[in-house]
Amino acid sequence: MKYIFQPAEADNCVNHVGSYRRRLPVSLERMYENTLDWAHLPHLHESSFAQIRCLDAGAWGWKAEVANVGASNPPNSLIELKLDRQARRWITRNLEGPNKGAEIWTHVFVEGESSLDIVVDFYVPDVAPEAKEKVGLAYAKAYEQLYDEDVSMMVERQQQINRRVEGFDRSETLTLSSAKKLILPTLVTLSQRSFVVNQIDGEWIAYSAQCPHQMGPLIDSSIVQDEVRCPWHGFTFNVRTGECTSGGVCQLTEAPLVVNDGDDGLILKWTGT
Ligand code: FES
Ligand SMILES: [Fe+2]
Repeated sequence: MKYIFQPAEADNCVNHVGSYRRRLPVSLERMYENTLDWAHLPHLHESSFAQIRCLDAGAWGWKAEVANVGASNPPNSLIELKLDRQARRWITRNLEGPNKGAEIWTHVFVEGESSLDIVVDFYVPDVAPEAKEKVGLAYAKAYEQLYDEDVSMMVERQQQINRRVEGFDRSETLTLSSAKKLILPTLVTLSQRSFVVNQIDGEWIAYSAQCPHQMGPLIDSSIVQDEVRCPWHGFTFNVRTGECTSGGVCQLTEAPLVVNDGDDGLILKWTGT
């Protein structure tokens, strides 16, 4: 368990069912970005949320209809998140739906450049005093999973931002020997950029290992009818053309050609070289 659960028995707020704390290895910038990013809910947290329809969003927060996984009549909740940067806090309110009236208050404390403590308080109406701990613990466990998933995204995104390089050397090539022994998909680096090498219908192909939207990882996404789907927000891309096929205004960055070396090897090289 990565968090500390604290039951609400000692406080006087009737709706407070508990709180939990956790240290996160991320910057405040990544944390706020994640907080305002309503679109990742049904993708990164696909085991918790089935759908989201944003009604309004801005630097202040967002308001959306959200369907939980397993809901019989989606969308089943109207949720509003309001971010208060001065107070280093955001409040998530269930305005309609099965948890109507519940509020989750999250306070953040900066411990270092990439180290935050969060304290999350759960306020749920109409919970009998003897049931508070059980309800609070259930919220804390749900939040642990959500934060596990969020941390993986925030840390990966920060690493990608730190590694980003402008321009590249088009004269570089990469030779992969023993193509038959490659475990596909294979992640490779050429000109300081990462690519996925794979085979479609017997044809070798390379495509960017990074989603152009917010740098999500594409290595673990399987190809279905020439398309990969990013696990962070669900954008899909044609791996041959790079085109975004889900309506996003972005496309995969240029990828090298994969040519056979005449033996059992492959050479990755840039077009025009
Ligand atoms: S990072 Fe958002 S869809 Fe890939
Ligand atoms: Fe999240």
